[in-house]
Amino acid sequence: MSSAGVLAPRPVSVRFEHHADGRLGIGESRPRLSWHYDTAPEGFRQSGAVIEVTVDIPGRDSEVTEYLVDGDEQVLVSWPGRTLASRERVHVRVASISDFGTSEWSEHATVELGLLDEDDWSGRFVGPGWPEDRETDRRPGRVRAEFTAPDDVVRARLYLTAHGLAQAEVNGSRVGDEELTPGWTSYQHRLRYATFDLDQLIVPGANAIGIWLSDGWWRDRIGFEGGSRNVYGDDQSVLAQIELTRSDGRRTVVASDDSWTAGFGPIMLSSIYDGEHVDLRDDDASWSTTGWTDPSWSDVAVFDRGSARLVAPTGPPVRCTDELAPVSIDSKGSGRWIIDFGQNHSGRLRITGHSAGGSTVVLRHAELLEDGELYTRTLRQAKATDAVELPPGDFTWQPRFAIHGYRYAEISGWEGELTAESVVSRVLHTDMQRVGWFESSNAEVNRLHENILWSMRSNFVDIPMDCPQRDERLGWTGDIQVFAPTASFLYSVTGMLSSWLEDVAVEQTDRGTVPFYVPYLPLGSWQHAPVDPVAVWGDVAVLTPDVLHQRTADIELLRRQYPSAKAWVDEVHARAGEDLICAGTMQLGDWLDPAAPADEPELATTDPYLVATAYFARSAQRLALTAKIIGESEDAQFYGDLASAVASAYADRFLSADGRVEGGSQAAYALTTTFRLWPTPELQRVGTSRLAALVNDAGGRVATGFAGTPVVSDALTLGGQDEAAYRLLLSDECPSWLYMVRMGATTIWERWDSMLPDGTVNPGDMTSFNHYALGSVGDWLHRVVGGLAPEAPGYRRIRFAPRPGGGLTSASARHVTPYGEASIEWRVMDIGLHVTCVVPVGTSAVLDVPGHDAVELAHGRHDVTFGLLAVA
Ligand code: BGC
Repeated sequence: MSSAGVLAPRPVSVRFEHHADGRLGIGESRPRLSWHYDTAPEGFRQSGAVIEVTVDIPGRDSEVTEYLVDGDEQVLVSWPGRTLASRERVHVRVASISDFGTSEWSEHATVELGLLDEDDWSGRFVGPGWPEDRETDRRPGRVRAEFTAPDDVVRARLYLTAHGLAQAEVNGSRVGDEELTPGWTSYQHRLRYATFDLDQLIVPGANAIGIWLSDGWWRDRIGFEGGSRNVYGDDQSVLAQIELTRSDGRRTVVASDDSWTAGFGPIMLSSIYDGEHVDLRDDDASWSTTGWTDPSWSDVAVFDRGSARLVAPTGPPVRCTDELAPVSIDSKGSGRWIIDFGQNHSGRLRITGHSAGGSTVVLRHAELLEDGELYTRTLRQAKATDAVELPPGDFTWQPRFAIHGYRYAEISGWEGELTAESVVSRVLHTDMQRVGWFESSNAEVNRLHENILWSMRSNFVDIPMDCPQRDERLGWTGDIQVFAPTASFLYSVTGMLSSWLEDVAVEQTDRGTVPFYVPYLPLGSWQHAPVDPVAVWGDVAVLTPDVLHQRTADIELLRRQYPSAKAWVDEVHARAGEDLICAGTMQLGDWLDPAAPADEPELATTDPYLVATAYFARSAQRLALTAKIIGESEDAQFYGDLASAVASAYADRFLSADGRVEGGSQAAYALTTTFRLWPTPELQRVGTSRLAALVNDAGGRVATGFAGTPVVSDALTLGGQDEAAYRLLLSDECPSWLYMVRMGATTIWERWDSMLPDGTVNPGDMTSFNHYALGSVGDWLHRVVGGLAPEAPGYRRIRFAPRPGGGLTSASARHVTPYGEASIEWRVMDIGLHVTCVVPVGTSAVLDVPGHDAVELAHGRHDVTFGLLAVA
């Protein structure tokens, strides 16, 4: 299989949709395929591929079919085979075809289909029949059943979803390692299920299944201002279906029904915000094994399934991804200890020790210490307290459903010495694949980047949340809208966000208005459904699918979200009226700019209607492009014209003939520039030099909030004002990114001054130390400081355009693109600038360094030295 002695390159890393290899229970019956090439000879161009699809059908010979596909596509290639059915397990391998011949096969990649049809589900939702007073006695329940397995089972699966959260055990062993199953979707419309492998847990003959339940987002208190309870229902129940496939292909199905039993377990309280209380003194670990009985258990109650569609996951589950050891442990006397894990994060503690019996160990969590004690005001009404009552003997314990946001913990009621072996913090979040890295010669900038990464990890917990610690943790649309470009560089987020964007679409009002947060629930003083289209937040409907498409070339996602994107722009258009200026609606504007009063974050310097109109123009531009990509040419024309008309209206209303923006704020100049709203290049030049002057006059301090921050550095770069952009990046005066770093931050703060220069906490009610929105500068670090950006969707063409400056002597950015790993590293040398780039096979790249002609790069590694150039 070679030509002229050169081996034809063999595909690697074959993938289905956005799933990890081996994923069980996917919902796509025609999953798209992607693959990489690690290396390829010069001149290699894939002209086609052979795709071998093997479908395992228990009881029959596997079905093996080869398909020949033409062309150079290797990312999200259409499924070549027949439409797959529920439960089918498929293996795919790929060989390349090129001038070098046909390659060896890749390794096999495997996925298994879930339950695709409503008819596949025979189970019912079952749970404890609650005591009379369901409101005050909210103890979580458990359900169990015994069943018989044939002795020739070749495949055993558990399909599971819940009203609330559920965790299963079979024959006394935990099933899988997923947390917070089934995650949070807009439950009234879509309820996700998970699929687990029981192959190793089922035994021939008698078996038992036991399932722990918890209120979860379904019926626990959620939200600010006291929150709401029972938002989706007042039951706590599970739908479970065990399917045992025998060697002849027949299936035995054990589904939850009225024959199951229910009772209480050791969990006394399990609350998202308040934590988990468990009494282990009479816990019976054998409850999920056969033969177990407890007279207090009774028949389950059967609950209505509701109108939700049962859907398979498109992204990974939440898992424990890391364990943090204490960096310090301080004794406070009387069995009380304060522990510092050195890093703000989302997770839960696991404690190990010995008890004489009868003691209660209490775990409290906080982001900060004040005078050596936990500082809990930033949690607002979240108690973030776990407690366990211990029987005599050795123990290892962690809460089952609780998750908190913290760096510090207090453990009280501890018997004896608490050592580093006694406690570990288990980091929990959606288990996405890491795909992006950045580093520079500046240690503070690296710490800023690390903080961005940790705020992302803390807040990507099944949905993209605003913060992980206080009584909120909601899917605020504006926060992810501004952070998605950064997020999609660092981790493979498309599977997870694709599910969440479906909820954005189903939660949109008939008029197209997007809720502030998704899933939406009426809260506190916000009992009404969203009425006004709020810019920045609602623009998530257009801009986030667009970003994901740029990063992954997922055109189907763009197509699926198109009606939602279009409805949003149409509603903004309708409300703007004939003059195309967004005015008179409720707006959050440049939320939390540093000049806004502590308790009125929307009262920022920049006119909120300027922000809204700039965003209207931007979303119309991007929607026009989306329409073009998916072949809606009339819409492309219409929204393109609309975007130009809004830009003119914006210029007439907010820009002066001599390059000034009304109000003159950093955010106003930045939005005008980055959204390309200057009528002429000359005005853009004048405008960006004014922006640079604003930054310099402020001594490099940031003056932007949620709307201006993601665009201010790019605006300076676009105007050639690199020096001011670096000044902004490198200032460590309050407010600035490095001010947070200087004050010891390990995540990105919600406010520029969440901690005030005197070390006290900002008095505002809304003061989190772990919000990713202001970390949206990460995208600029990756594209401009590192210098790695997509120029065509999916990085099929890459733009390496570093802008060295700010005294940095080196920087690097690395990203696993859909085509494989791309990287750039630059270094300032005596003789000039040395740049090393790696271009993945299947892509092309341009290297653009200031003061030099652009260089075309083919796949492979390139070392280029540019002679002396002026570095800002
Ligand atoms: C959230 C924000 C959000 C904002 C908008 C806050 O309470 O934490 O991040 O975007 O409200 O009103």
